[in-house]
Amino acid sequence: MTDQLAITVDGHAIPLLGFGTWNLTPEDARRMVAEALRIGYRHIDTAWIYHNEAAVGDGIRDAIAAGHVTRDDIWLTTKIWVAHFDREGLLKQARESAASLGFTPDLLLLHWPKAEPAWEETLGALNEAKDLGLTRTIGLSNFPAAEFRRAQSLSKAKLVTNQVEYHPYLKLTKLLETARDLGSSITAWSPLAQGKIADDATLNAIGRAHGKTAGQVTLRWLIQQNVIAIPRTAKVSRAEENFDVFDFRLSSEEMDRIHALASPDGRLGDWLDKAFNWDEEWR
Ligand SMILES: NC(=O)c1ccc[n+]([C@@H]2O[C@H](COP(=O)([O-])OP(=O)(O)OC[C@H]3O[C@@H](n4cnc5c(N)ncnc54)[C@H](OP(=O)(O)O)[C@@H]3O)[C@@H](O)[C@H]2O)c1
Repeated sequence: MTDQLAITVDGHAIPLLGFGTWNLTPEDARRMVAEALRIGYRHIDTAWIYHNEAAVGDGIRDAIAAGHVTRDDIWLTTKIWVAHFDREGLLKQARESAASLGFTPDLLLLHWPKAEPAWEETLGALNEAKDLGLTRTIGLSNFPAAEFRRAQSLSKAKLVTNQVEYHPYLKLTKLLETARDLGSSITAWSPLAQGKIADDATLNAIGRAHGKTAGQVTLRWLIQQNVIAIPRTAKVSRAEENFDVFDFRLSSEEMDRIHALASPDGRLGDWLDKAFNWDEEWR
């Protein structure tokens, strides 16, 4: 049995390796979620804005019907889209997401920080969704460090993760410290830098020393930092490859060589509201 690593936040064990579904068509999302659960993944990431929540739910039901998992084996995350940050809109979408999935999610995130409406309203509604049983836990996505702290100060319940872009070409020192400080966690989106890692000389050289690929080295580098990683693929062989990261360890020298790949222009997805700024990691 694979050593399935998890991080425990506020009493909840979140599997460190998950499966992302952004940009997967509903057909691919259903097929790949079922395959991922067969392979051994126990953490699935989707969002209302991906327009595939119903298909993700179908994929989970397929895996349950095939006897690969039970619902309780899985950590299921979805996200509130930014157009739904008012109380009424947030609760309406939380109900809609749970209905589309056919399951109560384990984690409901605010997808991107927004200046309006007032954060008291949005965080209040997110907590209300939890209290109403529309999600087991709540959290954030794409919140810089100061905003992460502010959101937690306005939230009754623990914000169990902040899901942000993170891969070898980005530094994340401040956010990682902030998450540790708050007793929360970081989830890395685009953990494979959207496939760019495949041609990286350093990652491939480290991989050769372990009999692993650049993708496997990258995912190992993330989970060895206690960062949750949610790689996405439409290919079964790659889903298998990306899951095969529990039987080797990177040395601290190898970890540092990968950290050294970060650069100021490493960010791939900058959709942050102009009211906020990413943490400056280069000063
Ligand atoms: N919260 C947010 O704002 C946010 C933003 C972006 C993403 N996300 C979440 O994070 C997940 C992952 O991020 P992502 O989808 O942007 O990118 P990613 O997982 O970094 O990369 C996916 C791309 O890499 C390729 N790939 C997969 N495994 C590979 C491997 N072992 N070697 C080489 N290439 C590989 C895939 O191609 P093939 O399909 O051809 O294998 C695909 O094109 C998303 O699916 C989504 O769930 C969240």
